[in-house]
Amino acid sequence: MSVALDFIFKAPMATLPEKGSFTWKAPSNIALVKYWGKHGMQLPKNPSISFTLDACHTITTLEFKKNKKAPEVGIRDMQVPTDKEFKIDIFLDGVKKPEFRKKVAIFITRIAKLVSFISDYDLVIKTHNSFPHSSGIASSASGMAALSLCIMSMEKALNPTMTDELFYKKASFLARLGSGSASRSIEGPVVVWGKHQDMKGSNDLYGIPFPFAIHKNFKNFHDTILLVDKGEKQVSSTIGHNLMVNHPFAKERFNQASKNLSLLSETLQNGGLDAFINIVESEALTLHAMMLTSHPYFILMKPNTLSIINKIWEFRAQTNAPICFTLDAGANVHVLYPEKEKTRINQFIMNELLPFCQKNHYICDRVGFGAKQIL
Ligand code: DP6
Repeated sequence: MSVALDFIFKAPMATLPEKGSFTWKAPSNIALVKYWGKHGMQLPKNPSISFTLDACHTITTLEFKKNKKAPEVGIRDMQVPTDKEFKIDIFLDGVKKPEFRKKVAIFITRIAKLVSFISDYDLVIKTHNSFPHSSGIASSASGMAALSLCIMSMEKALNPTMTDELFYKKASFLARLGSGSASRSIEGPVVVWGKHQDMKGSNDLYGIPFPFAIHKNFKNFHDTILLVDKGEKQVSSTIGHNLMVNHPFAKERFNQASKNLSLLSETLQNGGLDAFINIVESEALTLHAMMLTSHPYFILMKPNTLSIINKIWEFRAQTNAPICFTLDAGANVHVLYPEKEKTRINQFIMNELLPFCQKNHYICDRVGFGAKQIL
């Protein structure tokens, strides 16, 4: 049987109450080897690996109430169901957000065949991000992960014998259909998404925990996120991934990502901080190089992004401290360093790097252990 078929909800073994709710907290993640380029139904062109974060998270409550519509008016074959066909209300920090409805409705439509019970319920989604909406930090990974977990809790209530293993795999599978990187926001501390020959169990459909023991150097690793530009994303992820279609360097890039994942895997196991710095910084710059060399082309770094990178390189050259940076598809900088270096590196960040942040804003984060059910 194909893996995807394993994920189709078959028949209920128990009943869900007429109404109820589930709440999950799901973390954000920061990719070390980047996912950039996708095909088909949210499948990655190359494998990626990330640190699960801790402080940056989304808390989502999914309220469900049995609807009165005839069972044949399901959402299975519809494009984007209208409010009459399928009722979803979305609130962010208590404020109704009709503008989010389309994205969520598309997601629910995509997953409807896998969780067919969903069309029997009206849904209210109440969500809160620990980081400000305007921070330039994408909430799609933690948001889609939290929502997928709430939907999986509904499924688990209908099918209580479901194993935890299947629960988390399917949650990651569903989350991927909402946003690729969300597949890496279910478990922790390090998650691999995308098929890779060195990683047993890895595949393009859902993320798996890094399948080897992680060296103590990488336990409790810190990620201080410097908010250089808190504006709206200049390049949406859909446009961004599409830039890799017919990109002149695409093939090389996808091969390089696989090689970097092999190297990083060894490094995470043997504790090599120099190798880690080398791979992670190169991945960040390569991601931006792909945007610089695509058509249309984009520069997503800001002058302060480069100033921070230069300061980090100067500090590293002077002190030998194992500090490095990575970037998302934006101007903010993630500063990565081991727990045992936190005192001197924090001091450096406060004194030397904060002046380059918008209004001195930054977020202290660290590697976390995955999503948690709250209610
Ligand atoms: C640069 O997961 O946001 O952060 O699948 O279209 O939702 P969609 O894209 P998304 O892309 C993330 C790209 C990245 C790198 C990464 O997280 O691996």
